[in-house]
Amino acid sequence: MILLANSEAWPGFDQTVELLKNNAYGVDAMVAGISAVERNVKVRSVGYGGWPNMLGKMECDAGVMDGTTREVGSVGAVPDTLPVAALAHEVMKRLPHVMLTGEGARRFATEIGFPVDDVLYEDSKRVWWDRLQKELLPDELKAFPDIPLAPLSRTITDPERVRDTTVFLAQDSAMGIHAVTSTSGWAWKYPGRVGDSPIAGAGFYADSRYGAAACTHTGEMTMRCGTARSIVLALRFGHSLRAAVDMAMEDLGQLKTGFLAGVVIHAIDAAGNHEVASFQCPGEIKYWFWEPTMSKPELRIARQYDPQRATQRGS
Ligand code: GLY
Repeated sequence: MILLANSEAWPGFDQTVELLKNNAYGVDAMVAGISAVERNVKVRSVGYGGWPNMLGKMECDAGVMDGTTREVGSVGAVPDTLPVAALAHEVMKRLPHVMLTGEGARRFATEIGFPVDDVLYEDSKRVWWDRLQKELLPDELKAFPDIPLAPLSRTITDPERVRDTTVFLAQDSAMGIHAVTSTSGWAWKYPGRVGDSPIAGAGFYADSRYGAAACTHTGEMTMRCGTARSIVLALRFGHSLRAAVDMAMEDLGQLKTGFLAGVVIHAIDAAGNHEVASFQCPGEIKYWFWEPTMSKPELRIARQYDPQRATQRGS
């Protein structure tokens, strides 16, 4: 067994560990843990504590992948709903679809009994409005929200305010390897923007035969590189976990146009190895790790990817 998650996971990590110790299915254990993260306002990137879009509306993303069946459920830009990882899990269990977005996702939530909840935390609302007041001209403020938002996406949208999604990866007692993600996405994003957290292959991927990967930070890069899938595919081709992660980092480093910033990759393999590496994120990145030999989960420091020291392919 293994559980790996990013630093934002603290409100739900121990609960997931306990469930895994009691032989819970990995997906169920992680959805329970992430639901606790989503409900905690101290986590300022996920669920209640997260940040709204440019219109001051929360639109959350989440994804679930069962690495044994390779079934996926995800929701994108879903308004007025918590917990969204649990909603993504219901998409996987109840529908012939993989992904629902926006009002359709909310409609499904209502049909299966999720309450309508505007999710917007008072402090996030205050900061959102302060920022608009600083950036908009008096005429624009007066007309808001009936103004063009696209020009603002270059000045106000703030991926760095949201430094993390929450991502959980586990190998459970049945050796199933699974992935679950959740985020409120970039602060002041354009309405309807969907990040990588609900996109299987970009923000997460799991295959119990080989391993799993999930990303935090700049979804606009991992969606272009298919980052999570590329790591699991490299494992399938026989590369070590470290080489697989470094190849994905190399792909990110090849991007020269479009929006470019930091990415953190979290990955595990079927042999019980794990890797967390930061691609050009400022500061120290931490993550949570647990395996049964440990008396308690540990908060560890991620490796900074250095292209000069990248692990060679095949090694
Ligand atoms: N990785 C989170 C996002 O881009 O929304």
